[in-house]
Amino acid sequence: NSGAESRPAAHRRFPNNENNKEKPMSDSRSVVISGTGLYTPPQAISNEDLVDSFNRFVQAHNLDQGGEGTAPAELLEPSSVEFIAKASGIRQRYVVDREGILDPNRLCPKIPERPNEQLSVQAEIAVQAATGALEQAGLCASQIDAVIVACSNLQRAYPAVAIEVQAALGSGGFAYDMNVACSSATFGVQAARDAVRSGTAQRVLVISPEITSGHLNFRDRDSHFIFGDAATAVVVESAGTCTAEAPFEVLDGRLFTEFSNNIRNNFGFLNRADESGIGAADKLFVQNGRKVFKEVVPAVAALIQAQLDDLQVPVTAIKRMWLHQANLNMNQLIARKLLGREASAEEAPVILDEFANTSSAGSIIAFHRHRADFASGDLGIICSFGAGYSIGSLLVRRQ
Ligand code: COA
Repeated sequence: NSGAESRPAAHRRFPNNENNKEKPMSDSRSVVISGTGLYTPPQAISNEDLVDSFNRFVQAHNLDQGGEGTAPAELLEPSSVEFIAKASGIRQRYVVDREGILDPNRLCPKIPERPNEQLSVQAEIAVQAATGALEQAGLCASQIDAVIVACSNLQRAYPAVAIEVQAALGSGGFAYDMNVACSSATFGVQAARDAVRSGTAQRVLVISPEITSGHLNFRDRDSHFIFGDAATAVVVESAGTCTAEAPFEVLDGRLFTEFSNNIRNNFGFLNRADESGIGAADKLFVQNGRKVFKEVVPAVAALIQAQLDDLQVPVTAIKRMWLHQANLNMNQLIARKLLGREASAEEAPVILDEFANTSSAGSIIAFHRHRADFASGDLGIICSFGAGYSIGSLLVRRQ
C-alpha cells in the first residue's frame, strides 16, 4: 500500500473550504485542555446477554405471527454475537438501566421520571464527569464561568440541562446546551476555545452526558447493539491561567458539516401534531450503516489530511489519533488512509469494545484513557464524526 495511493482524495467541498481554516498556530491566546473526566454507569451488558434478550423477543414475535385471521406473517431474523463483534468491534456496553433493556417484553431502559425539584438523571451523570475533570484540572467549580452540555440527545427541551448542571456545580457565568450529534464534544471544545480566546469566558466545562440507550431501538436487529451510555467532561481554559500538571494545548480546530439523512432521529415536539407517527421507529435512532461507512470514512480522512497539510504538520508527527468510537473497521480504515499502513493500538486506541458507541463521548473517553504516556511536545488528533453529517477535528499538543 503506497503512501501516495492511499492518500485520501479531496472530499466534495473540502479540503478547500477557506472558511473553516484557522489563522496560523502562532496565536498568542493559547488555549488548553486542562482536565478530563469520565462517568461510567455501573451496569454492563455483554453481547451475549443482549442477543439472548433480542432473540427471545424475536421468538415470541414469530410465534405470534400467522394465527387465524391475522395479516400474512412478518417474521423477524435473530441477532448474532459473532456478527456484532465482527461488524462493529463491540463486545459490551455500559447502561444506565440494564434490567429494562434486557426484558424481552420491554427492550427499553426503565428510568423513572424525577420530580422537578430533584437533579435530573442527565444532569446527575454530567456532574459526575465534571467533578473528575475539575479535579484533574486542579480547579473548583466556582472557577468555571461557562458550562456547555454538548451531546446527541437532551432529556428535555428546556430549561437547558447545562444550566441545571451549572447550578448543581455552583459555577458562575453562563451555560447552554448544544447538539451536533456524535460530533458534539469536539464542536463543544472548539466553541469553548473560541469563548476563551474572545474573552467571553475564562474557564469552560464541556460536558457530554450520553444516555444513548434512551434513543436506541432495541427491537431493531441492524442497530440494537450499537450504543452504550457514558458521560465525559473537558475543562478548557487559557494556558495563562492553567495550573494542571499535563495540559494539552488545542493548536487547531477544524469543523465540517454536510446534510445527510443517513443517520436520523425524528423525535421532537412536533410529533404530537401528527398522531400517526407517534411511537414509530423513526422517532428513535435510524441509520443506513453501509452508506454512513462509505461516505464518512473518506470525508474524515480528507479533513484530517487537509488540516495537517494546512498546518504543515506531517502525519508522521502525529503520535496518536483519538477517533470517534462507532465502529472498529471504520477507525482502522481512516487510520490506514492517513498513515498508508495499519495503525497500532497506540496510534489509534480503541475503547468501543468495552463502551460501544457512546456518541459524542467516545473520542473523549479514548483521550481520557490513553494520553498518560505523552511527553511535552507530542502531538495528537481528537476527531469525532457522525450524524449531520458532522466532523470535528482538534490538533492538540502536550505542553
Ligand atoms: N445479527 C446478525 N446478522 C445481522 C445483524 C445482526 N444483529 N444485523 C444485520 N445482519 C445481517 C444483515 O441482514 C446482512 O445480511 P445479508 O448480507 O444476508 O443481507 C448482513 O448482516 C450485513 O448487514 P449490514 O447492515 O450490511 O452490515 P455491515 O457490515 O454494514 O455492519 C454496521 C453494520 C452498522 C455495524 C456498520 O454498517 C457500521 O458500523 N456503519 C457505520 C455507521 C456508524 O458508525 N454509525 C454510528 C453513528 S455515528
